[in-house]
Amino acid sequence: MIATVTLNPALDQHVEVDNLVLDDTNRWVSFKRQPGGKGINVSRVLRELGGETVAYGFIGGHAGDDIERLLKEEGVHTDFTRIKTEIRSNFIITDLKTHRQTRISAPGPRVTPGEFKKLLDRITGLKPRPQYIIFAGSVPPGVPYYIYRELIDRMKVLGIRTVLDAADMWLIEGIHARPDIIKPNVREAQTLLGVELKTEEDIICAVKTIVGMGVGIAAISRGPDGMIIADGNVILKVVPPQVEVMSTVGAGDSTVAGLVFKLSEGGSLEEASRLAVAAGTAATLTPGTELCHKEDVERLLPLVKVEKMPN
Ligand SMILES: Nc1ncnc2c1ncn2[C@@H]1O[C@H](COP(=O)(O)OP(=O)(O)OP(=O)(O)O)[C@@H](O)[C@H]1O
Ligand SMILES: [Mg+2]
Repeated sequence: MIATVTLNPALDQHVEVDNLVLDDTNRWVSFKRQPGGKGINVSRVLRELGGETVAYGFIGGHAGDDIERLLKEEGVHTDFTRIKTEIRSNFIITDLKTHRQTRISAPGPRVTPGEFKKLLDRITGLKPRPQYIIFAGSVPPGVPYYIYRELIDRMKVLGIRTVLDAADMWLIEGIHARPDIIKPNVREAQTLLGVELKTEEDIICAVKTIVGMGVGIAAISRGPDGMIIADGNVILKVVPPQVEVMSTVGAGDSTVAGLVFKLSEGGSLEEASRLAVAAGTAATLTPGTELCHKEDVERLLPLVKVEKMPN
């Protein structure tokens, strides 16, 4: 089983309009609400790929009820910790004429120390113990910024493999606990290391540096160029085929799901990387906040190129 933890989930409200006019009334062509937040997305993709998963995290208010219901409809198991405040809603407006996407994100509700402790107890007491636990996304106000470091430390004691997909201070702090896997994009990796990553050589150097910091597997994703990934033994450059992109929302989350799913099945780093990139690229084929479809992942899988790089 693969557990995911989303401390800052969101109800994604996605509107499509035919030609967005500012300062005026627009009519929507379509309106969709979907469960959002990085860990939740990873669980949804794991489910799509046929994996077993439970989504943990905070949930509250009507938006929270909607997320739980929508996930249930998709067959995703959840075990959320209730908070008193309503969780955030994110708004996404896609202009069908220009294909431009405007996203408006909220910071998230304030979590009380009591609610925070409840979640901590729930996660440390997980039964049955998952094989992997994935911590993903931002941290809401009221939760200490070093939360991922603390959670990863506690999971490692229990022998659970840990994955961290977060940005900024949450990643910088969390990496001190030496998670088994991290998957920043280039921008996040630059902030983590405090250097610019302009060339392929820079990124290769970066994954090696991160592994040198005690992380088991470092994967840096690079949009249409795929991903460079390293463990202590090999460095792989993984490149997807060129595709017509509809929306890149959730591409990175699909990548994480593909990677961890294959590893949990006992796959090699090469097999897992191939599935990761196929899933990430498959997510770009779907509109709005929709994630990848299994058929697309399977179709793309043999088209992903994996090249071993010199150490
Ligand atoms: N334009 C694209 N064309 C093809 N594949 C893409 C494109 N953008 C993203 N991908 C696929 O998705 C993967 C992850 O993308 P990216 O590096 O943008 O992740 P991210 O920034 O972490 O995304 P997220 O916003 O979901 O966290 C890439 O490795 C690639 O497989
Ligand atoms: Mg990401």
